[in-house]
Amino acid sequence: MWGGRFAAGPASIMREINASIPFDKRLWKQDIAGSKAHVAMLAKQGIVDGEDAQAITEGLNRIAAEYEADGVPVNLDLEDIHMVTESRLAQLIGPVAGRLHTARSRNDQVATDFRLWVRDAIDEVEAGLLSLQRALVARAQEHVDAVMPGFTHLQSAQPVTLGHHLMAYYEMVRRDRSRFADARARLNECPLGAAALAGTGFPTDRHATAAALGFAKPTDNSLDSVSDRDFALDYLMAATQASLHLSRLAEEFIIWASQPFGFVKLPDAYSTGSSIMPQKRNPDAAELVRGHAGRIMGCMTALCVTMKGLPLAYSKDMQDDKPPVFEAHDLLALSIAAMTGMVETVTFRTDRMRGLAESGFATATDLADWLVCEGGIPFREAHHITGRAVAAAEAAGVPLDQVPIATLKAIDARIDERIYAVLTVDASVASRTSHGGTAPIQVRARIAQAQEELGS
Ligand code: ARG
Repeated sequence: MWGGRFAAGPASIMREINASIPFDKRLWKQDIAGSKAHVAMLAKQGIVDGEDAQAITEGLNRIAAEYEADGVPVNLDLEDIHMVTESRLAQLIGPVAGRLHTARSRNDQVATDFRLWVRDAIDEVEAGLLSLQRALVARAQEHVDAVMPGFTHLQSAQPVTLGHHLMAYYEMVRRDRSRFADARARLNECPLGAAALAGTGFPTDRHATAAALGFAKPTDNSLDSVSDRDFALDYLMAATQASLHLSRLAEEFIIWASQPFGFVKLPDAYSTGSSIMPQKRNPDAAELVRGHAGRIMGCMTALCVTMKGLPLAYSKDMQDDKPPVFEAHDLLALSIAAMTGMVETVTFRTDRMRGLAESGFATATDLADWLVCEGGIPFREAHHITGRAVAAAEAAGVPLDQVPIATLKAIDARIDERIYAVLTVDASVASRTSHGGTAPIQVRARIAQAQEELGS
């Protein structure tokens, strides 16, 4: 297709290093859609006559049916999906096929195809994240009153509810969705018609092709159009952030499924056994979600490094933009689906969670807060008194709410029987009514709002 000025063909190694068809065949649908929009515009503008345009469109439809049925043929002599399609078109309709490439270049063509592909990928991720949010909200609603230890430094800190804990992930996923939505809005400008780098002298209508492909508008600078890969990086950065959240939830499931914690029983469907230790039940799906986050981040880093030193406009390095995006997308889609399945079907051992919440002196802060409210004691002093009460409980080997009143009064005379009402874990969580706090009344309100946000 470009051999006019060349006496010799490429070395076989050159064919191999040059070819992107082994991976960019994934762009075939977008490539056909872009070509159909382009040729319709060429006809409308009188650049290609109507009959030729119709032959080209019919040829493209036939090629699409062939790809759908048999896949895209890979032959390294035809470098990429654009050339494979154009050469098949020439076989099908003859030299008229050559009119399709008027007023465009593979540089704006690939930029357009790839944007369309990433846009579809975002829509797929968006649907997956929505399902994950629905699963989180449903399980949170089920466990809005279930008390568990809340941790800082992975040390029991204060009691929270499982519903509140799960809703924390709802918030993370909500932000992830908004990052993908931002990326989609920024991506939605059409580079088609920027041609090789400088625009074209043909009387094209870039607004028409942009509209036909569902873009908000054409891009405004031809150099930028063919060299911009921000949209792919935006996708990878949003994917990285989302995968980090999935990885953190996966990590919690892994810890919670361990025998010392015993907070969850992971579903059989997402676990594996050991070939030599029959008692084992390994959280493989969660571990792989955690592992995939590292690979997704690697894909993002790879494309950042590819792009950082490139002068305007197109350079062949940019052909390497696709594999990391494809890889990250496949890993992310799998991770979202696996995590959604786990959230939907995991068994929470709420009795075990409650038992541990009651055993770790997790209501010590409630004692200190009570001394401040009821005794008018400055918080620092209340903290000190409470520390002594915890030491007494620890020495006696009992939870805080089982330390006898005489012992507590000996520590500070301002303590009285009313304190037992605030030392239970239920009283503790019920008291955290600040906006966004763990009190079931607050969490219920947030869940109701979330259901509205999700349209369910
Ligand atoms: N296969 C190329 C890519 O994926 C298409 C663009 C080629 N353009 C060029 N001037 N060689 O980036």
